[in-house]
This record gives sequence, structure tokens and C-alpha cells, in this order.
Amino acid sequence: MAELLSKAKDQVVEALSQATAAVSLGATSDALYVDEATGDDKTGDGTQAKPFKTVGGAFISRLSDTVNVLVRQAPAEGQTEGDWLAASASAKKKATKVLQTHKNKLVKQEEARKRDEAEGEARRAAELKRLEEAKAIVLEEPKEDATKIKIRQAVEHRGKRVRVFAWVHRLRQQGGMTFVVLRDGTGYLQCVLSGRLSQTYDALTLTLESTIQITGVINQLPEGKTAPDNHELTADWFAVVGKAPGGEEAFLNKVNEEADPSLLADSRHLVIRGEHASAVLKVRAALLSSFRESYANLGLLEVTPPCMVQTQVEGGATLFAFDYYGEQAYLTQSSQLYLETCLPSLGDVFCVQESFRAEKSHTRRHLSEYTHIEGELAFIDFNDLLNHIEELICQTIDRVLADPKMKELIDFLWGDKGRFEPPTRPFMRMDYRDAIKWLNEHGITRPGEDGVEGEHVVGDDIAEAAERKMTDMIGRPIFLINFPREIKSFYMSRIPGDEGYTESVDLLMPNVGEIVGGSMRMNDHDELLEAYKREGISPEPYYWYTDQRKYGTSPHGGYGLGLERLLAWLLNRYTVRECSLYPRWTGRCTP
Ligand code: 4AD
Repeated sequence: MAELLSKAKDQVVEALSQATAAVSLGATSDALYVDEATGDDKTGDGTQAKPFKTVGGAFISRLSDTVNVLVRQAPAEGQTEGDWLAASASAKKKATKVLQTHKNKLVKQEEARKRDEAEGEARRAAELKRLEEAKAIVLEEPKEDATKIKIRQAVEHRGKRVRVFAWVHRLRQQGGMTFVVLRDGTGYLQCVLSGRLSQTYDALTLTLESTIQITGVINQLPEGKTAPDNHELTADWFAVVGKAPGGEEAFLNKVNEEADPSLLADSRHLVIRGEHASAVLKVRAALLSSFRESYANLGLLEVTPPCMVQTQVEGGATLFAFDYYGEQAYLTQSSQLYLETCLPSLGDVFCVQESFRAEKSHTRRHLSEYTHIEGELAFIDFNDLLNHIEELICQTIDRVLADPKMKELIDFLWGDKGRFEPPTRPFMRMDYRDAIKWLNEHGITRPGEDGVEGEHVVGDDIAEAAERKMTDMIGRPIFLINFPREIKSFYMSRIPGDEGYTESVDLLMPNVGEIVGGSMRMNDHDELLEAYKREGISPEPYYWYTDQRKYGTSPHGGYGLGLERLLAWLLNRYTVRECSLYPRWTGRCTP
């Protein structure tokens, strides 16, 4: 190595002296200019227009101390600029030292570069040799029986030989051993490959997200060591099922916390493999099954209404239209009207169905497609409806929290931002007109007609920002009730004796805002026909909905709950986009 370095040094010095000779030929004819007052060694080029500042700067620019240098000294105070004079002997002596220091630095830099290159090559060669040798190590699978398990069954199979198929979630090579954390969707399992196992070609080239099958015995870890579920599989054999790419294409180059949000959205299929995204999806599944259990307790039957419809529920502005065999049709905004038709047939009903909204709003709580949990109940009054919603939500949340696995995931997702606080009952009930007063008393304004902020007035459709400010300040769930007729849907029943207002409710949650919208429904046939007219809706396509009021009407009411919004509240997610498997929003319909 020393010989290599001294050779490199000779080559640099040779190159430098050649450069010096070449420049010094020209230097006799072309003088370099140095202006001690206005020159600059970095940006100067030695002409009169752009002089250097020091003689050293001029020497360095030509890597030579035989250059002809003309110097103009800084004028003394009150004097004009002096003449260009040949550099003095002492200035040249000093500059020669500066030049020598500079040359030494260049030599050192070149030596370091060559050394790195040589070492890199040596390392690469050794690595290639190691990999070639590794190919010769072939693992024989032991004959002993191994029970195929999912990782969730690992605890009950401790001490027995098992076989696991999974993805490489984490990977670390240390002290001749390979530590792998496997993931199969049902859990995480740490595995240790040691001895020959960690010297095979597959072990040495293993990458994150590769799939493997592995056999061995799972043992509880001694005190002081940590791994998922406090145990570890000591491998006796393994084989790669599918190797994921390394290098440029490696998983972590595609999915990492710093990646641009739109690239992460394109890579949602990979993002969902992460611990946070998969935790959200696991709680989502538990929440859905908990809702179904609550509904069974509360006596509501599940139905599955159609997604392709020819009627609107929540206004024409957010309808997605499409051609249905030559007829205009829409993706459903809400299954409410269909649920109402089920009451005489099945009694109280609910559905878990996708709803679609062509939302112009680009907010963190709007999706173009979301999972809508809707319920409809017959022969109830408005108070019964509010009590039912409160019972449904509390029962469902309490059940999820009582599951230790879910509690662990919820705590993990909250991280250092606190803990989820289950709502206390009864929920606060606030009349719409009191909310307007509350907003004004607390200085929460609304954008006026021309964007000028102003006080809220009765009749305002309270904007999302104001609503959220109020909910966050109050800090607990609020049933906001009795909205004016003008800002609510055509089907809502009016408050008897207060006809300008409706028996309607929005349930507001801290951090998220509205998660439920519901109401009592008009149950009078003629009143509904009037409502269609007022709204400019043609009654024909709604014949089946109107018939409800003809063939045995009943007082009834219901609600819709946005599952992603409830999850954003429960899991402290910034946006509902994190709570959907493949979220859709304005301009995003992929993957
Ligand atoms: O208040 P909305 O529009 O009410 C209805 O659709 C009623 N027909 C439901 C019924 O009475 N059966 O929507 C109900 C809930 C909202 O409170 C919100 O949680 C959710 O659906 N939601 C959305 N979630 C995500 N993205 C959107 N664009 C949403 N629009 C409504």
C-alpha cells in the first residue's frame, strides 16, 4: 500500500510541474494583475478588469511562482489609485510559500482519493469472493416434523419445531449472525440465523420484503432482551421464496418517511406494509366487526343496498354521474332512501356500504369514496334517535378498546401524542341557534360575502373551520341539533311548532369535526311532494321512496357515519386518507 501511495504522489507532482511549465511560458508575455484594494482571489482571473487580491492568489491560479505579476497597492487615505508595479521580492517569497502549501494540499487530496478507490476495489473483490464461496454452501432441510403456523399462533407453539412463511420486515447482520424480523400480517416474529445458515448466498444477499420459509424452534427470550411477543425463532433451515430487489429499486428507496406525499400515494400498495398503515387497517377491521356486534345487540339487521342508482340524496353538486346502458345513473351518495324502504319488511336496518361524493373540497376530512355506516329506525322520536347514536358509538368503541391487541395498536398510533380518551356520556346537546351565539361570543368569525370576515348569523351553514374550532375548544363530542330547513336536505322533518328548523343532528368530535349526520324523516306523503318541488327535484324517479308514505307510513329516522372520520378521531390520524385502504380524492383514483 505504501508503495502504491508514493507512486501516486510522484504522479501528482509530475502533473503539477507539467502544468506549471505550460503556464509559465505564457506568463512572460501576459502579466497577471493584483489589486490589493479591489481584487478577489476567488472570483478574479488576473486581468485588469478582474484582478486577484494577493500575489499568492495569482501564483495559485497558474500553479507557478514564475509568473509575471503586476501589483497595485491600496491607496492611502485621501490619495488616488497608484500605478501597476512589478511584485516586490518579499511579496513573491511569501506567495511562493502560499503556493507550496496549496500544492501539498492537492497532493494529499489526490492520495486520499486513490486510497479510497484502491480500498473500495479491494473490498468489492473480497465481497465477490465471499459471495462466490457462499454459493457452495447448500442447506439440507432437517427431516424432523415442523408444524406450519401463522405468526399469531407463535406463542402457543413455543418449544416445538415450526414452519413459517412470511415477508422480511427488518434485517440486521451482526457478528456473523443474521437477525430477521418476519411479518405475515398476523404478527411479527424475530428469527436468528447463525453458523452455516447465515453464510449462505441467500442469507448474505437477503433484502427487505423478500419472502422466505423458515423452520426452527421458538423460545422465550431471557430477561433484558426484547423482540415482538418476547420470543425468538432459532432457525435450523430456511429458503427464499421470492427475493425483493436491492440497490436503486430497494423497498426503502420507494417508501420512506421523507418521500413526497404524492409518491407515497402512488406507492400505497407498498406503504400498507408499514407498521403504522397496517395498524390503522387492523383497527379498521376490528371497528367494523364491533359495529356489527353492536347492531346485533341493538336489533338492527344488515342489508346491502345498490351502489348504482338514479336518485340523489345529498344534493346534485356532489353526484358522480355515469352512463348506464344509455341512461343517466349515479354512484350512490348515501343508502338512506333504500334503508327507509326496508323498515316495513325487515324492521330496523343498517348497512356498511361505500358512498361517493364528487367533492370539490380538498380537505383532510373529505374523500371521493368513503365507507358509510348507515342505520334507520322505525317508530322512534328525535330523542330516541340521539340516544341510539350515542349507544351505538360508545358500545362499539368500548368493545374495541377492551381488546388488548387493539388497545396496543391504538396506543402505538397515538405514540407520544397522548392517549385516546373514550367519550363520556351523555354527549353534549347543542341547539344550532345556541351554536351561532357561542361562536360569536368566542370571537369565531366566518368569511363574509366578499371574503371579509364577520359575525355568524342564524341561517349560516357553519364552515368546517369554525365548527372544528368550537368542537376543539369544548373538547368533547357534541350533538349539534335543529338546523334551519334551508341548509339541510329535502327529506328532513320539521320541528313541530318551529317549522323553519328541522329535527336534524350532526355529531361533532374533537380534532375531526362532523362524523355523523342524521335526522328524522318526513313521513307525510304530500309534505314530501312539496319538498321535491321546493328543491326542484322531479318526483318520478323517487316513486318507490314516496310510496313509503303511502303504504303504511311511520315516524322514523336514521343517520350516516363516515368510518374513516371515526377512525381519524380514534387513531389520531391527521387525515381520513390514512384511514382508507386505497383512498380516492380529487384527482386520485390510483392505485
Ligand atoms: O351528512 P351526510 O351527507 O349525511 C347523509 O349522507 C345522510 N343521507 C346519511 C343518513 O342519514 N343515512 O353524511 C354522513 C356522514 C358524515 O357525517 C361524514 O362522517 C361522512 O358521512 N361523509 C364523508 N366522509 C368522508 N368524505 C366525504 N366526502 C364525506 N361526506 C360525508
